[in-house]
Amino acid sequence: MQHLFKLLISALLIQTLYGAEKYDSKTFRVITKLCGMCHGTPFYFAKQKDEESWMEYFEEDQTLVKVHQKDPEALKSVQSKRFRYYREDILKFFIDNSKYSGVVHGCDANFCGTHH
Ligand code: HEC
Repeated sequence: MQHLFKLLISALLIQTLYGAEKYDSKTFRVITKLCGMCHGTPFYFAKQKDEESWMEYFEEDQTLVKVHQKDPEALKSVQSKRFRYYREDILKFFIDNSKYSGVVHGCDANFCGTHH
């Protein structure tokens, strides 16, 4: 019984933590995994472009593939199932944090204001 109670408390705690986050941390982690090793942290990467360029890159399936044509490692990322599954979320994340979005983040477990 006590065990169950602990479990319940931790579940609630996790939910509160997630709810308090100001951005989509799940997508943050997906982008870190898929693009981070070449493009830097997701926030840094998102800020490189404005909303319009992000939309262009994601408008057609082939655009990001073409951009990475010469890079087998990158192709693996942009053609992965994971990328396709999160595609809309990834675009939304980039737009939300793009060049003129004016979003500035403080410190948390993923990110601490630095630009790399
Ligand atoms: C293995 C390294 C690698 C990975 C992984 C990678 N890229 Fe790239 N990406 C590159 C390189 C290198 C270029 C520059 C290509 C050029 O200019 O010829 C590039 C260029 C781009 C560009 C064109 C604009 C720019 O900044 O030069 C976009 C947009 C882009 N990548 C998005 C992504 C996204 C989104 C992901 C993750 C889903 C990703 N990339 C994963 C290496 C990578």
